[in-house]
Amino acid sequence: MTDLRFDQVSVYYPGQDGPVLDRVSLALAPGELVAVIGASGCGKTTMLNLVAGFQAPASGRVMVDGRDVTGPGADRAVVFQDDALFPWLDTLGNATFAARMQGVRRVEREARARAVLAQVGLAGAEGRRIWELSGGMRQRLGLARALVADPAILLLDEPFAALDALTRETVQELLLTLWGKSGKTVMLVTHDIEEALFLATRVIVMAPRPGRIVDAIKADFGRRFLAGEATRALKSDPAFIRLREQVLAGVFARAAA
Ligand SMILES: Nc1ncnc2c1ncn2[C@@H]1O[C@H](COP(=O)(O)OP(=O)(O)OP(=O)(O)O)[C@@H](O)[C@H]1O
Ligand SMILES: [Mg+2]
Repeated sequence: MTDLRFDQVSVYYPGQDGPVLDRVSLALAPGELVAVIGASGCGKTTMLNLVAGFQAPASGRVMVDGRDVTGPGADRAVVFQDDALFPWLDTLGNATFAARMQGVRRVEREARARAVLAQVGLAGAEGRRIWELSGGMRQRLGLARALVADPAILLLDEPFAALDALTRETVQELLLTLWGKSGKTVMLVTHDIEEALFLATRVIVMAPRPGRIVDAIKADFGRRFLAGEATRALKSDPAFIRLREQVLAGVFARAAA
């Protein structure tokens, strides 16, 4: 169980007037699933990159289990906004890549990968090349690759954007089930307010110029799903609809401001 903390984090990019992230503070408790939503350009991917260790803040600290993030590590895995798969590897090769880098034995990593591929609906596609997969299949493979690496922290950047509504809901349920079993700490970026509310224990609303957190809404629909309630019933629950409208109103108000 791993916690994650942003403490007064600011980021500047060359050519931008002000900070891209302005003194952002956020703490994720171990096993929490936090969704981040907000207008394009408000710094959501930048936040994930900081946790992944791909870039460092200009000021402030990003900490995992109380230690500063200094670079990428096997304790964190990212599912990228664009699928970022390796075209020279087949599905199984992509799914096992991170585990291979970690030195997991071939028999074990392939067994793990086959199990995860089956969970994301890619059984039978192990030998296919990336260009032989649909956009939705690629996104599910991106998720599978991160899960096979079995990180303590899972960083998801719009992981389900290319999926049709039906598949999307199935994969949302899959993510909840995996999260419920594993106790992983998850940070999910999404543009989909319904998805954020359904999955997250907390929805963080960001605003741009400068990127900052403007609201945080607690939710328990994911946990209720894990306790046995049906997805459709949860998404049409009056409490769900009320929160959805509240978040929507907040996002629109910020976008118009
Ligand atoms: N490497 C970079 N160099 C310069 N500017 C950058 C760089 N990466 C991002 N930016 C700028 O920083 C801002 C935040 O980018 P970021 O990718 O974090 O936004 P985002 O919230 O993920 O947006 P989206 O929802 O469109 O994915 C944007 O204005 C973007 O143009
Ligand atoms: Mg982004």
